[in-house]
Amino acid sequence: MAQKMIIDTDPGVDDAMAIFFALRSPELDVIGLTTVFGNVHTDLATTNALRLLEIAGRTDIPVAKGADDPLAGPFKGPVPFVHGDDGQGNANLPAPRSRPIDQPAAAFIVEQIMAAPGEITLVPIGPLTNIALALRLEPRIAQNVKQVVLMGGNALCPGNATPAAEANIHNDPEAADIVFGAGWPVTMVGLDVTHQVNMTPEHFERYAASPDPLAQHIARIVPHYRAYFERANPGMRGIYVHDSSAIAYVIDPTLFETRQWPLRVETQGFSRGKTWPAIGTGAEQLPAAWRNRPPVNVCVGVDAKRLIALETGRLTQPA
Ligand code: BDR
Ligand code: CA
Repeated sequence: MAQKMIIDTDPGVDDAMAIFFALRSPELDVIGLTTVFGNVHTDLATTNALRLLEIAGRTDIPVAKGADDPLAGPFKGPVPFVHGDDGQGNANLPAPRSRPIDQPAAAFIVEQIMAAPGEITLVPIGPLTNIALALRLEPRIAQNVKQVVLMGGNALCPGNATPAAEANIHNDPEAADIVFGAGWPVTMVGLDVTHQVNMTPEHFERYAASPDPLAQHIARIVPHYRAYFERANPGMRGIYVHDSSAIAYVIDPTLFETRQWPLRVETQGFSRGKTWPAIGTGAEQLPAAWRNRPPVNVCVGVDAKRLIALETGRLTQPA
């Protein structure tokens, strides 16, 4: 039976890729999109989520609007140099005809998980504010979710928003620390693996040649995003596959190598947003900050070739 999934998202070029990958995967049943600030403000994230579902002909899937700001202060603002002014590579999409549901994202997440105990996989691919708010609203979701598979963090490698921190965690470190400490089955699909997954211009030529309207949309929005990666990483061609890697984990966890570590998120100073796994000391020396924290399933290795073949195969003809 297909796995029921809620995607919490800030679309976002790679969010669009991840949502379309999920919609084209028979193993998955996307039962809702919830929106959050990050790549764009939450209002635009909501507009984009509705637009993406219209392109996919899936307006049956509800969109619930989430938090406008992080738990501990105002949102620092979007990243148009990465995702475009519209969050969709400056594609100038028409306004959506559909509307979000009246229920806020956190309440939607709680209601869905509690109505189907053990069945719902939560896939946050933006800052973790809505997920922390859902835990506050109903802590029992921790025992009733199937699993949480999130894109974010950097355990053993540098960040991308700052030298220390990955963008999703950096946007709300307090929320992330709550999510990693909630004692539910969490898998972190962070930069440790997503920086090993490089989609190249040749892959996007295949998207452009595909008759699938979802592939066509991706081919249209990717150039602005790709230009950012190529400016930021001299010598690179194409993009790193961030958000879709979380979808790939849900479909096929054997693509990844994982370790289990208690994990804390730095909330102070210039390392704000850094995810710190409990490694480097013996158990008897473990500082109090990490003691009594549950293990997080952290992805540390990936079969990038197989992951890219899986994703591109869902939206394009075989190479
Ligand atoms: C994450 O930040 C955003 O720019 C992407 O959508 C992804 O979720 C990568 O660090
Ligand atoms: Ca995202």
